[in-house]
Amino acid sequence: MAKKGSLFRNLKQFDGYAKTLDDFRVKTTSGASVTIISMIIIIALISFEVMEYTTTFWRPSLVVDKSRKEKLPINFNLTFHNMPCYMLNIDIMDENGEHISGFSQDITKVRLTLDGEAIKSDSAELGDYTADASKAFKPSTECGSCYGATPLREDGCCNTCQEVREAYIKQGWGLVKAEKIDQCIREGWLERFEKQSNEGCNIHGHLLVNKVRGNFHFAPGDTFQTTSMHVHDLKEFTAGAPDGHKFDLSHTIHKLRFGPDTQNEADDILAVTDSLSGTSKKELKDRKVFQYFLKIVSTKLFPLNSVPTLTNQYSVIQNDIEGANGGLPGVFFMMEISPMEIIYKEAHKSFGSLLTGILAVIGGVFTVAGLINRIVYRAERAYQKKVQLGKTL
Ligand SMILES: *[C@@H]1O[C@H](CO)[C@@H](O)[C@H](O)[C@H]1NC(C)=O
Repeated sequence: MAKKGSLFRNLKQFDGYAKTLDDFRVKTTSGASVTIISMIIIIALISFEVMEYTTTFWRPSLVVDKSRKEKLPINFNLTFHNMPCYMLNIDIMDENGEHISGFSQDITKVRLTLDGEAIKSDSAELGDYTADASKAFKPSTECGSCYGATPLREDGCCNTCQEVREAYIKQGWGLVKAEKIDQCIREGWLERFEKQSNEGCNIHGHLLVNKVRGNFHFAPGDTFQTTSMHVHDLKEFTAGAPDGHKFDLSHTIHKLRFGPDTQNEADDILAVTDSLSGTSKKELKDRKVFQYFLKIVSTKLFPLNSVPTLTNQYSVIQNDIEGANGGLPGVFFMMEISPMEIIYKEAHKSFGSLLTGILAVIGGVFTVAGLINRIVYRAERAYQKKVQLGKTL
């Protein structure tokens, strides 16, 4: 027992906070007010610390993009105010030489009046990808001629205008003259061309392209691939459309996103994914090339409590070429992919730094309060002494 007692006595030597006896302590009102004020300050500062701990912030980082082999989704919604749907086509070409035309999935064309109202139509429309136009007509049962083009069907027939057109395009001959092809006359294409020529078109949908440099464009005329060139056939339209309709590529971009269609607001604030939204271009001369040069940057958002968003931000440089020698009329989107990607991670302060912060607040305020307290106490004492001295004198 005695040994243990001496051990404790030895331990006492390490007490860095030697106590003064209570008898020698003096409590003053000034000391009390300093204590109360410092308590209030401590509570306020600690609640700031806790608030900072509970609110999150986004930490950005820039790294090399390793996902470049992935596909790039494109979500778009464009309105051509003065271009009928059957004339409009979309094409995608990438640096790898992959050319895809005549998309059949996920693109919808809505016919509009010149005032921009949607035209309701019950049957399939010309140039409507969503429904095979030729299906709306009863194909003749006899085997139709392909007019020298390679037929697509195995039986070697071209029974509808659409089949003749496709055969011609495959052959690299361009578009058929609708007024010379029996199938087209029978199906009434000319009348339909004429009927639709004073219309606008809203085209929206979803594309999936290789994530490489390339372009996609909206242009009048069907496209076909010759051995080395990508050609839009404009023969049908160069003299004006069948009824003398001229190209007018005036357009409004409602949406162009390279990523998921919908995003929550927080993501929109962080990432500029729809820079072109609301862009409207009016064509003055009839033939014009509109070019948008897009620099696309992969962006990943990792929120704390929900699924990550993989999207792409982009910046735009616009360039419009006037006149006929600008080449193919159309609205071109030239895409360039940045080799870097931006990663945003949502984070908050660690619990450790919250504790450190709270302790620092308590310690700091008490130290400063102690100093002030001592100064005030000394001043009081000095004053009291003076007063006493004055009395005795
Ligand atoms: C395309 O944009 C127009 C104009 O903002 C809108 O009225 C229309 O609903 C959009 N279409 C789709 C499919 O989002």
